Amino acid sequence: MTGIDAARPSAGPAPLTAEMEADYHRDGFLLLPADHLPADLLAELVAAVPGILAQQGPQRVLERDAVTVRSVYGPHRTDPVVARISRSAHLAGAARQLLDDEVYVHQSKINLKAAFAGDQWEWHQDYINWRDRDGIARADLVNVTVFLNEVNEFNGPLTFIPGSHRYGLLDGTDTDGMPVGYEDGPNWMATLTATEKFQVDRSAIRRLAEQGGLVNPKGPAGSVLMFHPNVLHASSPNLSPFDRAMLLMVYNGVHNAPRPVDNPRPEFLAEREIAPIALSV
Ligand code: SIN
Ligand code: MN
Repeated sequence: MTGIDAARPSAGPAPLTAEMEADYHRDGFLLLPADHLPADLLAELVAAVPGILAQQGPQRVLERDAVTVRSVYGPHRTDPVVARISRSAHLAGAARQLLDDEVYVHQSKINLKAAFAGDQWEWHQDYINWRDRDGIARADLVNVTVFLNEVNEFNGPLTFIPGSHRYGLLDGTDTDGMPVGYEDGPNWMATLTATEKFQVDRSAIRRLAEQGGLVNPKGPAGSVLMFHPNVLHASSPNLSPFDRAMLLMVYNGVHNAPRPVDNPRPEFLAEREIAPIALSV
């Protein structure tokens, strides 16, 4: 993977190179160089995180211990800094390039994965929820993740099976009922916890990992990681003494807007205002 072009226009970030685009389409993920996001934007974002984590309401999901914050959903709707960064050419522009469409944010979240207590994410593909729960017809979305701490081998990095997105949605078992620790929660909570509701067949995970291997992109705070909604991914609990906070924004192409569904999820999980982002620098 090469760096961003040296001849960066002063009006904004350089587009992804053809090689970066090819890497993304081959592997299903792409880690951008650590200087992709300007330092002042990162500093503003990091400063906004404590306020977002302190939000009260159903958009804040706790770990099984019922104490530690696991995720806060929808900060692009509630926090002015995240709202602005979600429109930046550095992030929305890259999403637009990969999707070859105008984009909007379908979902955003901060996953804290707190030191000592941040729990796992089991193997899964994201698109099954966006298709079956939110009525999105095609897997033409992309996750754009900003590391808010250094991500290393100790604090529960996202782990991918390269190339697994090219097989579409894989077979598995949709489990019923609520996960342990969330028995009294609303139905939508079942897809947000350490126990995946849809369990991809382990034989498929093993076969794809034997073919493609496992990769866990690591880097300093500010690194930007993009990944495909069908790439198989997971992350381990964080036993280290260091948080692993990430902002994840899911951009969807405006031509792939959700269709009406029965029992729509709350707006902090599935955006219903479909307005193409006008890029800011
Ligand atoms: C993680 O934060 O490690 C998992 C996020 C995801 O599955 O999208
Ligand atoms: Mn996921």
